[in-house]
Amino acid sequence: MRQLTVDLGERSYPIFIGEGILERIGEFFEERSIHKNSPMLIITDKHVAVHHLDQVTLHLEQAGYKVHVKIVPPGERSKSLAVLEDVIGAALKGGLDRRSTIIALGGGVVGDLAGFVAASYMRGIRYVQIATTIQAHDSSVGGKVGVNHPFAKNIIGAFHQPELVLFDIATLRTLPLRDIRSGLSEVLKEGLIWDADFVAWFDRNTEALLALDSDALQHALYEGIRIKAHIVSLDERENDLRAILNLGHTIGHALEAVAGYNQLLHGEAISIGMVGAAKLAVRMGCPAEVYTETKRLLSKLALPVKLPENLDVDEIMSAMMHDKKFKEGLMVFILPTAIGTVEIRKGVQSDLVREVVTELKRED
Ligand SMILES: NC(=O)c1ccc[n+]([C@@H]2O[C@H](COP(=O)([O-])OP(=O)(O)OC[C@H]3O[C@@H](n4cnc5c(N)ncnc54)[C@H](O)[C@@H]3O)[C@@H](O)[C@H]2O)c1
Ligand SMILES: [Zn+2]
Repeated sequence: MRQLTVDLGERSYPIFIGEGILERIGEFFEERSIHKNSPMLIITDKHVAVHHLDQVTLHLEQAGYKVHVKIVPPGERSKSLAVLEDVIGAALKGGLDRRSTIIALGGGVVGDLAGFVAASYMRGIRYVQIATTIQAHDSSVGGKVGVNHPFAKNIIGAFHQPELVLFDIATLRTLPLRDIRSGLSEVLKEGLIWDADFVAWFDRNTEALLALDSDALQHALYEGIRIKAHIVSLDERENDLRAILNLGHTIGHALEAVAGYNQLLHGEAISIGMVGAAKLAVRMGCPAEVYTETKRLLSKLALPVKLPENLDVDEIMSAMMHDKKFKEGLMVFILPTAIGTVEIRKGVQSDLVREVVTELKRED
């Protein structure tokens, strides 16, 4: 088992990564002084509930916790005000009070939703995240919680740090392969922005990761979380440095929007976005290796590196212009300047971005 701490002063919290953690969940909760006298609410989605809910409920009840459960539909659409209201109804019905704890059992969707329930219910109660996706290495660190508005993703939210985050590797074995690859895309991203040694390790261990080898997964999650936690601890509120975590996201978010949030998984869109950012970097004078290596590493994970035929370049450009980072023909980009290093570059010409996005249709 591995442990690390997200270091945020009095809001610091531990993350545990290992096998068989759910069987010992009561100990982890007791260690963090999660109250037994107030009822708790587990928020999960239908897919996760099928595989893992019974085990979590059983072990919490055995440890003496009073547990209520709310199951929401799987997918991004559950990050909505309507579902938030429904879940808060469940919290009220269950009699949750100020000393109660919300348990997020699931991936980033459940984590963001349940975290926001915890941030807003009675002006804020505690929450624990039991993360069941690889992607959640990202969403479980940094305390950004919230829901979507029909006009914009993640626009209603708060900063609210969890008490505790648990990753039981056993839960990842029920994930669809596509979600595994997509989650690994962002783990690799943490290396590409910060740590060339981790990228080299990732390269050597790609097959082991895709085969869900326990040691490899534990190490990858540990390193991905360590890098994200380090960056967040330097800039919790995203004044500047934290923005580097958005490598590949300027193009990637636009692709998700244009594709209607159902064609591409987040990590797939970010994969294409990272290839785009690398191409842009090379056009602006960075070594060609930045692009060839980025593309090679992502292709090895069988992630998409080419813009899907059906997505229109004009629509992608206009989706990027709605991005808050865009000002009068000039854009802000996170550019990889070498493997393991990025730079926040302001004033990138939108015409150059358009050329690069157009070229992304011709990748092979
Ligand atoms: N708060 C942050 O800082 C932050 C950072 C990155 C991403 N996010 C958010 O995270 C979300 C994406 O997260 P995600 O990729 O984990 O999505 P997700 O939570 O929707 O999970 C992906 C799919 O896998 C299923 N699933 C989850 N765990 C499973 C398991 N163990 N076995 C079988 N199926 C399982 C889910 O039901 C879902 O269908 C987005 O909403 C994104 O905005 C937030
Ligand atoms: Zn992301």
